[in-house]
Amino acid sequence: MNFPEGFLWGTATAAYQIEGAAAEDGRGPSIWDTFSHTPGKVYRGDTGDIACDHYHRLEEDLDLMAALGLKAYRFSVAWPRIQPEGSGEVNRKGLDFYRRLVDGLRERDIEPMLTLYHWDLPQALEDRGGWTSRQTSERFAEYAGIVYEALSGSVRYWITLNEPWVSAWMGYGMGMHAPGRRGTGEALAATHHLLLGHGLALEAMRAQGGNDRFGITLNLAPVRAASDEPADTEAARRVDGNANRLYLDPLFRGSYPEDMVEYYRDASDYAFVREGDLERISAPVDFLGVNYYMRHTVMDARRDSPDLATGIRFHGLGAATVLPPGVETTAMGWPVEPDGLTELLVRLKDEYTEDLPVYVTENGCAVYDYVDPEGGVDDVERISFLDAHFRAAHEAIERGVNLRGYMVWSLLDNFEWAEGYSKRFGIVFVDYGTQRRIPKASARWYREVIRKNGLPD
Ligand code: NOJ
Repeated sequence: MNFPEGFLWGTATAAYQIEGAAAEDGRGPSIWDTFSHTPGKVYRGDTGDIACDHYHRLEEDLDLMAALGLKAYRFSVAWPRIQPEGSGEVNRKGLDFYRRLVDGLRERDIEPMLTLYHWDLPQALEDRGGWTSRQTSERFAEYAGIVYEALSGSVRYWITLNEPWVSAWMGYGMGMHAPGRRGTGEALAATHHLLLGHGLALEAMRAQGGNDRFGITLNLAPVRAASDEPADTEAARRVDGNANRLYLDPLFRGSYPEDMVEYYRDASDYAFVREGDLERISAPVDFLGVNYYMRHTVMDARRDSPDLATGIRFHGLGAATVLPPGVETTAMGWPVEPDGLTELLVRLKDEYTEDLPVYVTENGCAVYDYVDPEGGVDDVERISFLDAHFRAAHEAIERGVNLRGYMVWSLLDNFEWAEGYSKRFGIVFVDYGTQRRIPKASARWYREVIRKNGLPD
């Protein structure tokens, strides 16, 4: 089973989750520093202060990537390293770090894929309203222009935002992520200003005339109703509207989905949408990044069902996910549904992206990994998870999806946001006490997949 020539196999990480060195070389505080240092917000009080110490172990980690035979590496730039206050003054030392990273990748023939925003908003901007404020979109475009000026030409793949749904709904809707605010109106305003920031950043980068590719990464999930009950079908439609269409429609159709605007009427009048915003948001991208982890099987949350005790509750939607009977789950408790990836990619092609290049910019799973007495980490669950998802991606290609690459989340075990270090997603184990990196069995398996550009039939 072969993948198209030049298929970009890689791994992904994000700055706050791996870098550490939180107060070094002029880095300013981000909302995640504030949040993780607030008691009760992150599991066991874990923070990203040290994380995988990647900032100090750059060379070692680059060599590790080369040893795995990666063709690509997706990473994010920490805005507070570049502009410690979120605006104005540029911190050269911050840019230098990413220059070293990008040069190190190029020397090893690894294609850099850069994400500008993976959730670490400078705290100074949150103090002025964060993503609920339109000014943050403008500041983001300014920051994008700075990073682009410094690294264009060396980086060909530019991703503006990572998972705006999570920033808006986990950060401003449900308060489970930084900055920990809770409000439907706030999450809707944050959604719009994130998307507007994406549009303005595209303009700022394209104005510099580089010949690079610009895109955005969304977390998307196929949604299915748990039963034929009209209440469940309706709930599934709302979840699809909130999780998928609220982002895809403005980006690819230049409008917010009418049913959702109507649904949210009491929470927001959408006055934050100004003339011209949607044209900017829907400016054509060069590719779409898709983060896929699971399918959502949805039930009306008001139903009297023991199944509702598990799964994810969607803020303000009266809807929750349930586990389909017999489905396997990961250490996150997420259902393993590889065919959902095929379903999602084919739907995107049919309804939104047509021939547009698409990349899986994240897919992977948390496993209860441990170092065994022989010193290895035999993560057979991860191998079978990835194998099944790669096959599902291949199926999508056969069905006409223009899929160009696949980034496994993650290169290293790292800071899993509100779950702290308790959840391990890496294909390389990190012993946090010593910072030793131990490639897991999945890393060796993945190296072979990359080398053969395929899987055994
Ligand atoms: C998506 C996010 O982009 C990433 O930061 C996170 O660690 C993974 N999902 C796993 O939850």
